[in-house]
Amino acid sequence: MRISVIGCGYLGAVHAACMAKLGHEVVGIDVDERKVNDLSAARAPFYEPGLENLLQEVQQTGRLSFTTDMSAASGSSVHFICVGTPQKHGENAADLTFVDGAVHALLPYLSDSDIVVGKSTVPVGTAARLAEVLASSGSDAQLVWNPEFLREGHAVADTLQPDRFVYGVREGSEDHPAVNVLDQVYATPLASGSPRLVMDLPTAELVKTAANSFLATKISFINAMAELCESAGADVTLLADAVGMDDRIGRKFLNAGIGFGGGCLPKDIRAFMARAGELGADQALTFLREVDAINMRRRTKVVEVARELCGGSLLGRRLTVLGAAFKPESDDVRDSPALSIAAQLQLQGAVVTVTDPQALTNAARRFPELHYEKVTEDALDRADAVLLLTEWREYLDLDPYIVANLVSSARILDGRNALDPNKWRSAGWTYRGLGRP
Ligand code: UGA
Repeated sequence: MRISVIGCGYLGAVHAACMAKLGHEVVGIDVDERKVNDLSAARAPFYEPGLENLLQEVQQTGRLSFTTDMSAASGSSVHFICVGTPQKHGENAADLTFVDGAVHALLPYLSDSDIVVGKSTVPVGTAARLAEVLASSGSDAQLVWNPEFLREGHAVADTLQPDRFVYGVREGSEDHPAVNVLDQVYATPLASGSPRLVMDLPTAELVKTAANSFLATKISFINAMAELCESAGADVTLLADAVGMDDRIGRKFLNAGIGFGGGCLPKDIRAFMARAGELGADQALTFLREVDAINMRRRTKVVEVARELCGGSLLGRRLTVLGAAFKPESDDVRDSPALSIAAQLQLQGAVVTVTDPQALTNAARRFPELHYEKVTEDALDRADAVLLLTEWREYLDLDPYIVANLVSSARILDGRNALDPNKWRSAGWTYRGLGRP
């Protein structure tokens, strides 16, 4: 099939490459010329494991191209909308400028049998509104909502073999013609077992925001337990292991620490609350305010623990922060808890050095006032305390005996509860986790 993908960021670039891998002829369209140039040269404009290899592989087939010219969408029968929906400045609501702009820019190039497939995370009601935009433009093209559930760091695998497909169509009917078209687009993953659910437009939009809200709630739940563990002298990691053994609960997303960040969970729960307010259902989501508050408290907590670890004052202390990305296997620093903690420590008088295997360029753009070191050993040099804030594999594999020889004082704060405390303590380190004694 001929497919256009509008917006080539973390979602769209991966989606375009994966659709070409599935055998389709794909054009990726983005307003950012630098991104388009990178992608055209089969270079990933951001770090995502497997993406660059995939781009090289599919570009050799001639099935994948990128452009800034929207007219290239003409001739495709399926158009995926993959642009961002960031938080509005100074408000909780989502900014739909890019989604609206993409759909309007696409209008002149649509044919009547085309389908426009929304993948961006949007407030419920957006799809119905956009369907009206299509209809009132005189086009018979159909609008479908097909939310994306990929995780950064696993985006290629999550796109090629997702744990489910959700198709939102008008009236939620299996007979809707777009269902058959999407089945053809996703024929390969459907044949190998990914289930698909057909539903109405608002339910499809809500599946995505509900899923992200549940994940955020799960993380904040365990972080609330961490607060209790801190007061009661209990260990939140053992608690999570035991609670998570109940199949109904599950151990995933019960890792307490510095909390969640990134370009999705924080802004999605806020946009969800804002939308619920508009719909007169704000009471239903007031608990998300608490989820957000618990999450943000973790960042303050880490600064306090770092101060304690440094003997009561951060002034002039040399601190090394391991990790800047919002999670490992990503260079994304949007609302990264690691980076916001690093900046806070610096504001409170510490001399902070940040290192990260992939995210330093993005980090330096966001917080130019912090000091960055590429090489882990250089970053650790003469540190008064080390903070592990993003659990990259290479940090988990550090040898505490070797690191002890690099730093001034063997003190470590494990913001992800990802290290083995016994191993570090027996190498002479003062170890502090979060929510554990
Ligand atoms: C999230 C969802 O997991 C995806 O399903 C969704 O498609 C995506 O948002 C999106 O809306 O586009 P992502 O932002 O890539 O994916 O990251 P997650 O893996 O969900 O992690 C989010 C944050 O939670 C990270 O900062 C991570 O470190 C933190 N986290 C995760 C914890 O603090 N504890 C945990 O137990 C798990």
